[in-house]
Amino acid sequence: MRLSQKTAIITGASSGIGRAAALRFAQEGAAVVLAARDSARLGVLASEIRAKGGTAFELAGDVRDPGYAPSLTALALRETGRLDIAFNNAGTLGAGGLVECSDPDDWHDVLRTNLTSAFFAARSQIPAMRAAGRGSLIFTSSFVGHAIGLPGMGAYAASKAGLIGLVQVLAVELGSSGIRANALLPGGTRTGMLMDGAEAAIAGLHALKRIAEPDEIANAALFLASDESSFMTGAAMTVDGGNSVTKA
Ligand SMILES: NC(=O)c1ccc[n+]([C@@H]2O[C@H](COP(=O)([O-])OP(=O)(O)OC[C@H]3O[C@@H](n4cnc5c(N)ncnc54)[C@H](OP(=O)(O)O)[C@@H]3O)[C@@H](O)[C@H]2O)c1
Repeated sequence: MRLSQKTAIITGASSGIGRAAALRFAQEGAAVVLAARDSARLGVLASEIRAKGGTAFELAGDVRDPGYAPSLTALALRETGRLDIAFNNAGTLGAGGLVECSDPDDWHDVLRTNLTSAFFAARSQIPAMRAAGRGSLIFTSSFVGHAIGLPGMGAYAASKAGLIGLVQVLAVELGSSGIRANALLPGGTRTGMLMDGAEAAIAGLHALKRIAEPDEIANAALFLASDESSFMTGAAMTVDGGNSVTKA
């Protein structure tokens, strides 16, 4: 049990990578606080975890709302008395489109969902972790905007690259308090985010010539969450099937 006695907030838990991570973290003994907008899906997941003997709490909300992250932290502290891990993973592709044609409202919305939400999350999670003298903050970035530019994904790429900068600053601000901050950079992964009909083209961008299953990314998140990564902070950890080294 690699997360025994620990409490983890997981955003984007209603589907895809976040859902897989919630199941994996709970399997490893963590009490999980499940976050996303879709309360019905969170409820189903929480029931599934409890049915397997795990501990889960759910609170639906929108990560663009500055009040949501503090509510999640408060729930973790109220129910379990601690917050050890935050997998800040919720994200959106947005409407997309070439930069010159993109709607500024969509730009702002993608930045708010993917990047500003991380700021809100860290602000609310750090005090609880600082008081305990330990913690692991994990933010889901992407191969897009790090290793590769994909047309039509300007806002998404900028938001995900921004997370890496935020993580570097958090690492140096928090290291002496025993809190680690890392970015997780998945390659293409089989979730609702993968565009219909795009699997073959996306798979071809990776050395492994396939996309990841959500569990493969959840396992990497588990590593960053657990003490096995105790000397890792400020890292941009690629779990990308060789996307970043594939040039042909
Ligand atoms: N799939 C890929 O190929 C890939 C590759 C690299 C990085 N990523 C990143 O991985 C993370 C997880 O995505 P996924 O692939 O698992 O896709 P997904 O299945 O579409 O999951 C996205 C999650 O984010 C939540 N979410 C989106 N907007 C939200 C908001 N405003 N407030 C609260 N929750 C919100 C969604 O829940 P609700 O709709 O219920 O709110 C959902 O649980 C994202 O940050 C994504 O950018 C994905």
